[in-house]
Amino acid sequence: MIRTPTPETIADAATLLQQGHVIGLPTETVYGLAANALDGLAVARIFTLKQRPHLNPLIVHVIDTAMAARYGVMNDLAHTLAAAFWPGPLTLVMPLRHDAGVSPLATSGLETIALRVPAHPVAQAVLRACNLPLAAPSANVSGRLSPTAPQHVNASFGDALPLILAGGAAPIGLESTVVDATGDVPVLLRHGAITADDMRAATAGPVQDGTQLENGQAPRSPGQTLRHYAPRLPLRLSAVDVAPDEALLAFGALKFMGMRGGGFARDLPPERLRNLSETGDLEEAASRLFAALHDLETSGASRIAVMDIPATGMGLAIRDRLSRAADSEKETKECAS
Ligand code: TXA
Ligand code: MG
Repeated sequence: MIRTPTPETIADAATLLQQGHVIGLPTETVYGLAANALDGLAVARIFTLKQRPHLNPLIVHVIDTAMAARYGVMNDLAHTLAAAFWPGPLTLVMPLRHDAGVSPLATSGLETIALRVPAHPVAQAVLRACNLPLAAPSANVSGRLSPTAPQHVNASFGDALPLILAGGAAPIGLESTVVDATGDVPVLLRHGAITADDMRAATAGPVQDGTQLENGQAPRSPGQTLRHYAPRLPLRLSAVDVAPDEALLAFGALKFMGMRGGGFARDLPPERLRNLSETGDLEEAASRLFAALHDLETSGASRIAVMDIPATGMGLAIRDRLSRAADSEKETKECAS
């Protein structure tokens, strides 16, 4: 059931979490399915609900750096990144403190733990009220689009959740940047709103790109190899025109973009056209991406043509999500977060 956050519903959320239930929770990146990370049964419910492979660990959300340091070993690099970007859309992978009680299911039995301090006021209020570390993956069925609105969560899990807290449209709209901070140099594992340039500026040092796997190289983040973000329709990237059976995910001015067989894309029926940002603003585009794909997949089209997104700043994260969505058809049954 979707509820507006009030002191009462926040208190209800805290009680439900303390009792081992899973709830829907807004964060500034995407909505999460949250449960007590110390409670193995509660964490197991997340995996069941999402149909998520157990080898793919969850992000554990905490209220501040001091709480993060109870569950992970923070070196100088982790402290520098935390000071620069927490609370915010950055997840830090660090060595796990085995004696701190986090369910090994949450970390998939790894020696490391992924921790994040979210900036969303509702997520913060719930973390403060329950005083627990919260395992919270994106609130989508594994391998499908991430949710950026409470309605998306309700559509996937409505009946199975005792509570979905509403927090409006997720302001960032893409999952957090994931960084391995176990060594001296940050290793980028998942693109997000905090870019490699942001981290270089904060650390005054290099950033290693761990997002592109060489052939045969073991992934440093289990989510990397997995199918992801699959909309119900195939995507066609770098489109410069639109076929009659396609919907269009646009970016920037449509100008004279044409329909195959004649006509202009700007005259598509409204349900078949979403523009991520008419002015070419990459942050606006990121915040609209998943909602636009959710809309277009029910538009009656048989495919989604996607205009090119520049490979700079937040454009890298958008392109990452789009290329995984486009590739997902080619892959087998593996699925992800
Ligand atoms: O923005 C976000 O991060 C959202 C919101 C709800 O906070 N959460 C999210 O969680 O995207 P999820 O579970 O969908 O993605 C977690 C990613 C996966 O790619 C997983 O493989 C990686 O983090 N990860 C988790 N623990 C890890 C670890 N110990 N080492 C490397 N990667 C890890
Ligand atoms: Mg996910």
